[in-house]
Amino acid sequence: MRHDEGSSNPSANRSFHDVLEARLSRREVMAGSLAVAATSFLAGSGLALAAGKGGPAAGKAAALMGFRPVAVAEGNGPIPTISADYTFEVLIPWGEPLVPGGPAYRGEPGTRPTAAEQEQQIGIGHDGMWYFPMDHRGRCDLALLVPRADASGRRRRALGTHKGMLAINHEFGENPHVLGKNTPESLEDVRVSQHAHGVSVVAIENIDGHWRTVSNPNTRRIHVNTPVEFSGPVAGHPLLDNLAGNEPAGTVNNCANGYTPWGTYLSCEENFNGYFGANGTFSPTPGQARYGFSVGGFGYGWHLFDPRFDLSDPGYANEQHRFGWVVEIDPFDGSRKPVKRTALGRFKHEGATFAEGQGGRAVVYMGDDERFDYIYKYVSADNWRSMLARGVSPLDEGTLYVARFDDDGSGEWIELSIADPRLAARFADQAEVLAFARAAADLLGATPMDRPEWSTVAADDMVYFTLTNNSRRTLADAANPLAPNRDGHIIRFMDGDRRIGTSFSWDLFLIARDTHGTEDSFSSPDGIWADPEGRILIETDGGQQDGLNNQLLVADMGTREIRRLLTGVTGDEITGIAVTPDRRTLFVNTQHPGEGNPAWSNFPATDADGNFVFDGVTIPRDCTLVIRRKDGGIIGS
Ligand code: FEO
Ligand code: CA
Ligand code: CA
Repeated sequence: MRHDEGSSNPSANRSFHDVLEARLSRREVMAGSLAVAATSFLAGSGLALAAGKGGPAAGKAAALMGFRPVAVAEGNGPIPTISADYTFEVLIPWGEPLVPGGPAYRGEPGTRPTAAEQEQQIGIGHDGMWYFPMDHRGRCDLALLVPRADASGRRRRALGTHKGMLAINHEFGENPHVLGKNTPESLEDVRVSQHAHGVSVVAIENIDGHWRTVSNPNTRRIHVNTPVEFSGPVAGHPLLDNLAGNEPAGTVNNCANGYTPWGTYLSCEENFNGYFGANGTFSPTPGQARYGFSVGGFGYGWHLFDPRFDLSDPGYANEQHRFGWVVEIDPFDGSRKPVKRTALGRFKHEGATFAEGQGGRAVVYMGDDERFDYIYKYVSADNWRSMLARGVSPLDEGTLYVARFDDDGSGEWIELSIADPRLAARFADQAEVLAFARAAADLLGATPMDRPEWSTVAADDMVYFTLTNNSRRTLADAANPLAPNRDGHIIRFMDGDRRIGTSFSWDLFLIARDTHGTEDSFSSPDGIWADPEGRILIETDGGQQDGLNNQLLVADMGTREIRRLLTGVTGDEITGIAVTPDRRTLFVNTQHPGEGNPAWSNFPATDADGNFVFDGVTIPRDCTLVIRRKDGGIIGS
C-alpha cells in the first residue's frame, strides 16, 4: 500500500518499542549492535528455537537456498531482475480480459478502460492472492491445498498442480494511473475506479509450460458494487443499516489475504476509510477518527458522484461500518456471495493467516496496518470440521483477542468481550465491540506495534509477523535503530496450548536496518510466507536502501541467512505470494510499477519480439509474475 497515514491511536498503551527497550536494557546488551542484542534476547527467551544453534544449521542453509542471488548493484531498473537460476513470465496484468476474447486494455498511451470494460477485466493494485488447485470435477482439491514438505509424487502429477483458480486482491489504483486525472468528473469515472478495485477470481492453467487464463464458469470479478452479505455477531445489527435501504455491496482496498482448509479465500479490507469523503458538513466522531475518516479521504472522489461514500449523506450514515472486514470468497462457486465475517473484527485488516489449533479449532492471525496499531487472533468456538458439519461457519462463532507483548519475552492474548467491564462501560453489545475493535483494544492494554502487515506460520510452528516500519516512533536513544523505525523488522511468537491459549512467547527474527550496506540489504518487510522446509519468503514495500527497488528475498528460518531472488521495477511494490502444490511455481505481484508513471517504467510492455521494453510512454500495469527455477526445482531453493 502507498497511503502512509499518521497514527490514529490516541491510547496510552505501551508501545512495542518501550517493551523491546526495557527488555534489552535489562539484559545490559545495549553496547552491541541491535542484531547482537536481539540474538542475546532470543537466547534468553526460553523458546526452543532452531535459530542460534550454530554449526549444523549453516550446512542446511546452503541446501535450502542454493540459488545465485540478485546483487545489490543489479537490483534497480524499469524491468524486474531475477536470480540467474530462475525465470519469470507475466500473468494477468491490469486490463487483461477475464476470459479469452473479452475486452482488453494494454496500457496504450492516452487510453483507459471504460467502466463496462473494466468490469470484465483484471483489476489494478495486485496484492494478496492464493492458488486453489482444481480436481477433475472442477472443485477445489483440498488434499493439495496446503503446501507440504513432500512436493513430489502425486503432488507433481495431480491436475491441481497444473490447473486451478487464482484469487487475487486489487488493493488500489490511484486516479492519475487509472483515470489519467486526479479527480473523477462523472459517475462513469467513479465506476471505472470502483471496478478496478476489489478481487478477481480466474481459472489458470499451465499449458505447454506457460501459465495462462482459461475459461471457467466461476471466473469472476468482485468489486465495490458486487452484492455481499454479512455473517457473525454484527450481521443484522443496526450499525449496518442505512436509511436509504441499500443492500450490502462491495469490498475495497483488499490488501493481504488468507485461505481456509475448506477451500475458501479470505480477502482483507485495509484502508477502506480513504474511499469515503464528505460533500457537506462533516466532523469526525472519535470513533470515526480512530479509523481515519476525513472530508477528502485519499482523493479518490467517489463521494462526489456516489452518495454511498459521502459521509455527510444521512441516507448512507452506516455505509462506513460495512467496510473494514475479512471477506470470505468461494473460488469454486461463483453463485455464492462474498461473506463478511464480522467475528474477526473491524480494523484495517492486512492479512488473515489460518492455522489449526488444539481440538481442531480454527485460528486466524491478523494484523492491523497502521502505526501503533495491533496484532489480533481469532479462535473458533469448536472444531472447524464439526462446525462446518453443523452448517455453522468456523469464522462466525469464536473469540477475538488482541496481543500484549511483555518485556520478559512473554505475551498475552486479551479477549475482546463485552463481558469485560472495561468494554461494557463503553460499548452496548458484542457487535459494537467487534465493529469498533480498535477502540476496544485501546481499552485493554494491547501493545501498539510498528504497522503489522502479513503473518505466516513457519516450519518451527511459530507465527512470523512483518512490522513494516514506523517513522513516527520517537526515542531518546539514537543508537536504537527501532526509533524511528525506518526500516521495520520481523517478530515471531509461539502460542501456548497449541494456539488456542492466551499466553505466548516471542522474540525477534530480523531487524531490517542491520542488513543495510550489505548484499542482504532490505527495508520495510511486508509480504511473508514460510514454506514447510524452513524457507521464509519476504517481500518489501517501501523505500529500499543501497539503491534497490522493492524485492523478494528468501531467508533461512534457522540461520537467518538472506538471499535476494528478485527485484521489481522502479516505483513498484512486490507483494502477493501463492504457490502451486508441488512448489515448483511461485506467483508474486508487482504493484503500481513506476508509480503509474510511464517515464519511470512501462512494465510489462513488450516489443514485437516479446521482449520487455522501456519505451517511456506505455502506461505501466500491475501484474503477476510467474516464477520458476530453470531446473524445475523447489521454489526458493
Ligand atoms: Fe496494504 Fe499494509 O499494505
Ligand atoms: Ca501490505
Ligand atoms: Ca506495506
